[in-house]
Amino acid sequence: MRSLTDLFAILTPGSKDWRLAETIDPERLPAHIAIIMDGNGRWARRRGLPRAAGHRAGVEAVRLIVESCKRLGLKALTLYAFSVENWKRPRAEVDTLWRLMRVYLRRELPEIISNGIRFTCMGRLEGLPTQVREEMEAAIEATAHNQGMRLNVAINYSGRAELVDAINTIIEDARLKGRSRDLHIDEETIARHLYTAGLPDPDLLIRTSGEKRISNFLLWQIAYAELYVTDTLWPDFSRADLLNAILDFQKRDRRFGGLSIEAERTSREQWAEAVGTLTQ
Ligand code: FPP
Repeated sequence: MRSLTDLFAILTPGSKDWRLAETIDPERLPAHIAIIMDGNGRWARRRGLPRAAGHRAGVEAVRLIVESCKRLGLKALTLYAFSVENWKRPRAEVDTLWRLMRVYLRRELPEIISNGIRFTCMGRLEGLPTQVREEMEAAIEATAHNQGMRLNVAINYSGRAELVDAINTIIEDARLKGRSRDLHIDEETIARHLYTAGLPDPDLLIRTSGEKRISNFLLWQIAYAELYVTDTLWPDFSRADLLNAILDFQKRDRRFGGLSIEAERTSREQWAEAVGTLTQ
């Protein structure tokens, strides 16, 4: 039986987070949560602050949510930190984002290691500034043998580019093995060549700041993910917001294209009745 002991260990008995955590079913947690962290700019604008302040506050939310997901015992957390489209932003803002990611890694790596978290990145990492790439690679290497939660950061990421990269790798592998003529691609082959190979698909995709868009994120992997959009801006996204998203997820009836157990039973009865009528 699973329990939320690690989470309760840091909560104050009777607090809002404690009461929310009590309503979560530990047996029905999502294995993998993916988050589109949006709204840093608006958070700053509402306070009359520069956008950089919004991103800085966003890093604090990242720390809190990583810790909470780890304590909930999730298998994986994927965070959308930088899309290929984000290069269109002013140079100073892009540079701030790189600086903040390096600061985050330097500050958090010891904690990530001691918590057994495995850090990975996905995206076209070759396009990152050298220093950022080197620090990311060092963190990936330092945590490569950790068996705990996977913290997967999407950086210079595009869902379409990921599919293009996967298909080109499949074609190139087949060419090198002299098997181009009888190349047959199925879903499993594509999944094995995505950046997320080996990870379960996200069960829950959270987007903050109210926008109802996928923004080129995990296009293949979210085929059956439950979507949760909240108006909360990313820097304000709290542990209570995360728990509320999970509670909402636990109320959903996930059918993966089939029927719910109840609908299946009713449908079986109705079919049996219909067949009975036809054969009378
Ligand atoms: C979207 O807000 C946020 C981003 C483009 C960057 C997300 C990055 C962080 C939270 C910090 C670093 C991440 C890690 C993993 C350490 P926006 O700027 O588009 O907000 P707006 O839509 O209100 O302008």
